[in-house]
Amino acid sequence: MVTITIDGIEYEAREGQTVLDVAKENNIPIPSLCHHEALKPWGACRMCVVELNGKIMASCTLPVAKDQNIKTKSELVKTVRKVVLNLLLARCPHSKTIQQLARLYGITKTTLKADEGRDNCILCNVCTRVCAQLGSSAIATVKRGSEKEIGTPFGEKPPDCIGCLSCARNCPTETIKFEETDAGRIIWNKSFEMAECSICKAKTVLTKEQVVFFAKKSGLPEEYFAKCDECARKETAETFAQLVINPGAHIMKAWGFTFGKLEAKAITASPVLPQKFERS
Ligand code: SF4
Ligand code: SF4
Ligand code: FES
Repeated sequence: MVTITIDGIEYEAREGQTVLDVAKENNIPIPSLCHHEALKPWGACRMCVVELNGKIMASCTLPVAKDQNIKTKSELVKTVRKVVLNLLLARCPHSKTIQQLARLYGITKTTLKADEGRDNCILCNVCTRVCAQLGSSAIATVKRGSEKEIGTPFGEKPPDCIGCLSCARNCPTETIKFEETDAGRIIWNKSFEMAECSICKAKTVLTKEQVVFFAKKSGLPEEYFAKCDECARKETAETFAQLVINPGAHIMKAWGFTFGKLEAKAITASPVLPQKFERS
């Protein structure tokens, strides 16, 4: 453990944590856009800057160290965040996320030339990193310079996309559009059918491609994943009831089932990513 000071108060921090981790753990408000707790620090948006010994540092990539004295609300910090927000507002003048954040710093309009025709993407790469972490890597940053954007290979329907929606649900500016019905969903111009429950044949919340993907990744049969909520709940209850009655005979089944469900949840992690909009 190390002790660090944030805004004059001492906090215990664990080795390997970043200053942003400690701040979030202790409800100290530091705004962040490209940070996601399920992903490696990226350090791109500069919203999370703090002051350390008169220098401005991104708190999401700043490891804690003994006797650090961090300031999160100094004039220098506020000035830098305002500069960043002024730029972001010029890039995405219609993004509600950026507008709200800017208002917290007293900015209602960018002083720069606003790019009215652009979408709300701030190039934080949360979407591409989430997708890569899932193991799909279906989308990427394409084009260069001011034309840079998030897209699919050759602008076509992405062959590796499994329709999990993790990219869209974790985009801080809600830029990635998708359509969802009981029967299926469309994202990146690609249509997906929902998988049927292997027990009752009702539609599940996973696409057929997700079921195949999870089964392949985990080595578990597709039936573990292709379950509607009700059947999954029933199966869990039955498995645990059997465990109580006859632990020896059912322990292997229970472990298999539990791991299967947990893995599905972890990967789908989209409604996922908890601290999603908990920027402060
Ligand atoms: S689409 Fe959203 S998540 Fe992806 S880079 Fe742009 S703002 Fe970030
Ligand atoms: S829907 Fe899932 S697989 Fe497809 S691009 Fe988004 S994160 Fe990747
Ligand atoms: S640079 Fe730290 S959250 Fe983006």
